[in-house]
Amino acid sequence: MKKKLTFLGIETSCDETAASIVQENDDGTAKILSSVVSSQIKEHEKFGGVVPELAARSHMDNIEFIASKALKDANVKVNDISGVAATAGPGLIVCLTVGLNFGKAIAGFANKPFVAVNHLEGHALSPGLSFKIKFPYLLLLVSGGHSQFLIVENINQYKQLGTTIDDALGEAFDKTAKMLGLGYPGGPAVEKFAKKGDKNYFKLPMPIINKAGCNLSFAGLKTAVLRESKKIKNNDQLKYNLAASFQETIIKILKKKTEVAFNDFVNITNSKNKIFVVAGGVAANESIRNNLKEIAEKNYFKPVFADIKYCGDNAAMIAWAGIQRYKKKLINNLDEEPKSRWPLDLKAKYMKGPGLKL
Ligand code: KG4
Ligand code: ZN
Repeated sequence: MKKKLTFLGIETSCDETAASIVQENDDGTAKILSSVVSSQIKEHEKFGGVVPELAARSHMDNIEFIASKALKDANVKVNDISGVAATAGPGLIVCLTVGLNFGKAIAGFANKPFVAVNHLEGHALSPGLSFKIKFPYLLLLVSGGHSQFLIVENINQYKQLGTTIDDALGEAFDKTAKMLGLGYPGGPAVEKFAKKGDKNYFKLPMPIINKAGCNLSFAGLKTAVLRESKKIKNNDQLKYNLAASFQETIIKILKKKTEVAFNDFVNITNSKNKIFVVAGGVAANESIRNNLKEIAEKNYFKPVFADIKYCGDNAAMIAWAGIQRYKKKLINNLDEEPKSRWPLDLKAKYMKGPGLKL
């Protein structure tokens, strides 16, 4: 009987130390044998954001325990796995180094193939942990560091349609939370506050809404939230209203830009396979999910969302991307270096900084 592909995945690109064992079923679907995520929220909370050196030290303290736990939970021995996959970028170099070196060491020691995974490819393929999806598909990837529309043509083959020209969407949520005096990470806290507020109370700007294709911009919105937050002081109801209005503005921006991306996808691919995948930490937001589902159905796209458990950073998505890359013979040497910047579409124009013309 053919042995099933089974990978150990390791993820340490930011503030989550994670390890997971994932197996590929005979029908090409995934079986997650274990997924261990240790979040460092408590350590970074008092600083209102991730402190790279603290995060790296915490990864070093925890990685061995987390990886052993993943193997134990899955009831799998290192010798039984088919390969090791570790995140090699993009992210904080001091953090990436910990997981990448650990993954390379295990692969070298156990004489197993090693796959260096792009964290963004992990998110891009993460819905595959729960569903079987055919290429090509349209992807909206919204996380703490990235906000992009991409055509996922295949494993390792991406075409960027649009990206943020300033802040990432998760970052906008985190900064709004900070302005409202909520904790870190901000996304879930803003979502909770928004449920109690009037979403039409504040009129907030939607930068580049009618231009620049499906590129995104959130900096002007953030400045407007800052201005309003200074006026409302300790009035709780106004805080709820500001959170609700911020989230509503984000939803309007995403709906509009997603329709532009739908058009681009159809024009470029000519594909009858109209699938719209949403992944990354912000994809856990219930209102965003519901609204994007609605707009997809209106445009005859099939909406597919990463399972809430695998929206935020985790190692199951890294193990899964590792399996997919391994099947395409995309295997790496043990001298692979971490990369702070690593776009999925290497041909895409860099969209930040002075002199940007839209
Ligand atoms: O994918 P992720 O875990 O890490 C990165 O790769 O960046 O995304 C983290 C981001 C954070 O900015 C966090 O505030 C945001 O995802 N987030 C949310 C929600 N849950 C997490 N944003 C909005 N609503 C949520 N429910
Ligand atoms: Zn991520």
